[in-house]
Amino acid sequence: MYQPVKIAPSILSADFMRLAADIAVIEEGGANFVHIDVMDGHFVPNLTMGVPLLKQLAPATDLVCDVHLMIDNPLTQIPWFIEAGADLVNVHVEALTDEELRRAVAMIHEAGCLAAAALKPKTPVAALAPVIADLDMALVMSVEPGFSGQSYIAGTEARVAEAAAMARAAGNEAMLIQVDGGIGPVTAPLVAAAGADVLVCGNAVFKAEDPAAAIAEVRAAADKARLAALAA
Ligand code: DX5
Ligand code: ZN
Repeated sequence: MYQPVKIAPSILSADFMRLAADIAVIEEGGANFVHIDVMDGHFVPNLTMGVPLLKQLAPATDLVCDVHLMIDNPLTQIPWFIEAGADLVNVHVEALTDEELRRAVAMIHEAGCLAAAALKPKTPVAALAPVIADLDMALVMSVEPGFSGQSYIAGTEARVAEAAAMARAAGNEAMLIQVDGGIGPVTAPLVAAAGADVLVCGNAVFKAEDPAAAIAEVRAAADKARLAALAA
């Protein structure tokens, strides 16, 4: 049965002084995940949010807490985020050796959470190989991680299609593909047609006049393109 594209608003673009209200708006607007961008000022230049925020946020929402770890030491911090209430933990392959990446995925699964591996735009998709058979999701970045509000890097669609083909070849038909960075009504159809299942939206949702309408608009544009691609 057709599964509609999932929307994961990134609270990096929310109003931190009204975070609870912003989360309520995306819940009512039909978001699937809440995307939490954790940056440490080392793996990426920016410094954002961490465990203390997740600890308060996770019990206050029914949305899937999708934690995107843009940090140098994921193996140390994964247990902290799981303890704080993460449902899905997303680690960058660039921060880990192949062996560490396997350990990270195993650690996340042993705690009963969903595991994802993320790729920066210039990292070969083949870097997912050590864990592709075990991943619940792969994250294909469509901007250099670090900041919200950047423009989508043209051609990311090809990398989405490559990750989808790689998961199929590994027998992991259930693996979701998430795309993050510069996604809105214009770019969502491109990645959805290529096989994206989960779209992160920061500015496109939280800077919109009507965030609920923005979620619906992105999802409708993505579903239309995905259904057309499936029918082709
Ligand atoms: C970038 C973050 C993204 C970003 C998305 O490093 O991982 O999640 O905040 O924001 P937009 O959708 O505005 O590009
Ligand atoms: Zn992100």
